[in-house]
Amino acid sequence: MALLWRVIDLIKDLWRALFFICSIQFWRMTLLWTFSVAYSHFQLLKDSLFSQKIVSYPRSSPSTVPNRPVCVITGATSGLGLSTACKLSKEGYVIVIVGRSEQLLSETITKIKGWHEDARLKAFQADLSSIESIIKFKNSLRQWLLDSDLHCSIQILINNAGILATSPRATAEGFDQMIGTNYISAFVLTKLLLPLLESSPVSAKIVNVASFTHRADFTTIALLYNLLKLFSSVTGLQVDEGTVSGKRFLSSKRYPYAQIYEYSKICLLLFSFELHRQLCQMGKSHQIFVKGTCFLANVYADMYTMSWLRIACQTRKSHDRKMFKWEQLYSYENSLESLVHLWLGLTKCCINSTNKSEFSVADPGVVQTNIMRDFPVCLSWLAFFVLKRLRLLQSPESGKEAIIDAALAPPGTSGAYFFGGKGRTINSSALSRNAKLAHELWETTCNMLSVTPFDNEKERF
Ligand SMILES: NC(=O)c1ccc[n+]([C@@H]2O[C@H](COP(=O)([O-])OP(=O)(O)OC[C@H]3O[C@@H](n4cnc5c(N)ncnc54)[C@H](OP(=O)(O)O)[C@@H]3O)[C@@H](O)[C@H]2O)c1
Repeated sequence: MALLWRVIDLIKDLWRALFFICSIQFWRMTLLWTFSVAYSHFQLLKDSLFSQKIVSYPRSSPSTVPNRPVCVITGATSGLGLSTACKLSKEGYVIVIVGRSEQLLSETITKIKGWHEDARLKAFQADLSSIESIIKFKNSLRQWLLDSDLHCSIQILINNAGILATSPRATAEGFDQMIGTNYISAFVLTKLLLPLLESSPVSAKIVNVASFTHRADFTTIALLYNLLKLFSSVTGLQVDEGTVSGKRFLSSKRYPYAQIYEYSKICLLLFSFELHRQLCQMGKSHQIFVKGTCFLANVYADMYTMSWLRIACQTRKSHDRKMFKWEQLYSYENSLESLVHLWLGLTKCCINSTNKSEFSVADPGVVQTNIMRDFPVCLSWLAFFVLKRLRLLQSPESGKEAIIDAALAPPGTSGAYFFGGKGRTINSSALSRNAKLAHELWETTCNMLSVTPFDNEKERF
């Protein structure tokens, strides 16, 4: 009888797989995502072979915080989050695990304790797709910190929780669940935890777990697809409320899951760089350690895209010469505007900055986790098989390296995009670094959230 049920399940799975294979979204994922991750690896290779400015950062040991430093990781009950939690607990951090299932949380604690007996862990149940739940979590976390022997602050926040949903689902606030989890939750949680991060006696880090898929719409292949009008695109990139909340997708006949996942990740990047800019402007980032007074700005055409302008700046004195992470200053719209912003930004914000909150992005590459849980089992198995053959697939243990690099990078690395492990960084897509778009997205998100319980919680910003 059990065998019969298994056969029936297998047939159902194959039938579902057939539907997936016949959809454009599936082929978009297969082609564009493979191309995107290959492009990221190519960038890494190109930088290490031909460029003298490959940027890689060493890991620093946990800072000296009264008692032990605290790291909050969302979505730590599985995959990359679990691996990261385990590694950072070995580094001496008190790990705050955030997950939506009580049972998975206690299983996770048992697992990590099994690997590392001395791990100090605390689990909080929160559904990150619900704003009310995030607010409750923030309150419980703060209370727990006050009641504990720890310093009432956070040293690392890792926004890792994410989903790849294949059917439309709405959150309590009416947002699309995939955008709600992958982008809006990171926005809300980061803003709510900023006071705790800024109370840290040492430099605090915020790490957003992004994805190579953010490149998908902007690669050459995507352009070709769009030219051929094989499918409609969410790009342009629209940052109106209907799109950012995902409401417009909830009512669409065919849920464009691959596009929405890409969209949620590019929003996460735009948000990361915008917050980084804002922290810089408020003088709250270590990003730039400037001693010299004069800067040379070189504007030169980007060899690879031929359409984006790149700005590189160097201090004049030779002992101050540094190549900075200038992602936030890249602008394809108006290089002069960027230069003005550069000057203003430098004079306004970064010299002699004393505080601490830094923002990095980690892209783990393609990792064999539960991320494809909504897909037919045979399809995810096939995808992992092919990716392994292409040598693109990693285990969560090696995939987490980029996240650990970002979390343990030394002060002064804010705004970096970690990819490929060994502390290495590459550039995210030019669009993800578009300051104007990031600002518009920020405004739209704030407007959208003003009708939710989040509005009453705005303690700062
Ligand atoms: N795997 C990859 O190839 C890959 C590549 C690039 C980026 N990423 C990103 O890496 C991050 C981690 O993904 P993964 O690959 O490790 O996938 P995973 O194994 O499915 O883990 C996702 C984690 O997020 C949690 N989560 C999902 N929705 C949540 C919610 N509403 N509230 C609280 N927790 C929630 C899950 O909890 P439950 O166990 O309760 O569902 C799980 O612990 C994601 O942001 C993903 O987009 C993954």
